[in-house]
Amino acid sequence: MRRTRYYYVSATNPHPAVIGEVGRAVSRGRIVAFPTETVYGLGADCFNPRAVERIFRAKGRPADNPLIVHIASREELARLSSDIPRAAEALADAFWPGPLTLVVPRAGRVPDIVTAGLDTVAVRMPDHKVALALIRAAGRPLAAPSANTSGRPSPTTAAHVMADLAGKIDAVLDGGPAGIGVESTVLDLTGPVPVILRPGGITREHLEAVIGRVEIAPAQFLPGESGVPRSPGLKYRHYAPRGELWLVAGEPPDAARKIREQVKEWKERGLKVGVLASREVASYCRDAGADFFRVLGSRACLEEVAKNLYSSLRECDARGVEFILCETFPSHGLGLAVMNRLSRACGFRIMGSDDG
Ligand code: TXA
Ligand code: MG
Repeated sequence: MRRTRYYYVSATNPHPAVIGEVGRAVSRGRIVAFPTETVYGLGADCFNPRAVERIFRAKGRPADNPLIVHIASREELARLSSDIPRAAEALADAFWPGPLTLVVPRAGRVPDIVTAGLDTVAVRMPDHKVALALIRAAGRPLAAPSANTSGRPSPTTAAHVMADLAGKIDAVLDGGPAGIGVESTVLDLTGPVPVILRPGGITREHLEAVIGRVEIAPAQFLPGESGVPRSPGLKYRHYAPRGELWLVAGEPPDAARKIREQVKEWKERGLKVGVLASREVASYCRDAGADFFRVLGSRACLEEVAKNLYSSLRECDARGVEFILCETFPSHGLGLAVMNRLSRACGFRIMGSDDG
């Protein structure tokens, strides 16, 4: 158990003395949580294998799940990749800094532990003043996964980070809530066609406007079905609350009717039941008698839903909710990322609104 130092910083104008102190700590092998525009990350010097090893230990992360390297300038991309694809340059011009991670061929100096031994490396330039200032102060790129215990919902506030990792990491920079609320899009540029390994803040539509057709890797990896997954992270259950989460498909009035039925049924069985719903669905089932009810946002504004998703799942845990019902969302734009996280958080348990 170590003491985790806690620093408040302004998200728009971070204090140079604080960033300088924490940056020096990173350059000496410390591991530090910091805000980005997507979720909080847990960073270490990407060229220091022992520091990176401590990230895996603090999170309880499987060693075969590689980390994203965070950079603050385009020159750093050239130090990390042996052969930068043309599409990577075009996408970096269009979307960096921003919620897009590019998987590119790896340079020899990137330690094995960062890439889990793969011959590729995932790189992104975050769009957050604190993250960029920290990378510059450390004087090197930061290997940084999301700052949660492996398997749990990603942290969108410093309080979420502390709930999971207090005493296991050296410091937290609290720059207020993360903006987007779901992680970056991970795009693999090392095959014949670009493939979205994880949908996120930059949508398929955004990417296709710049580089033409991109494919989407299936969210569910069934062992034995298609060999080795391209993104090692696909193998693991992720983003999951402690309670049993089920998704309810269907148009808002039908989904709401099913949610009402289910709330009644599980409450009768003695469980503490929670509901996560859009404003539209909530208007039909807010009075269903759930022990916990959270409106995620409007179906017409999936940005709002994305922003509230992880904190709502964590709130279910904090309130001891045992059975959670949540509607499904349209899979276009940011909705694809929302549905990807929800389906994985529930272990692909989805009920239809007309299932008996
Ligand atoms: O928004 C984000 O991306 C956040 C913030 C902190 O930047 N980071 C994040 O990291 O979500 P993490 O470690 O939770 O997720 C990284 C994902 C995993 O699914 C991992 O398998 C994949 O990126 N990944 C990393 N390196 C890869 C590689 N070389 N090839 C394929 N997938 C890779
Ligand atoms: Mg993660």
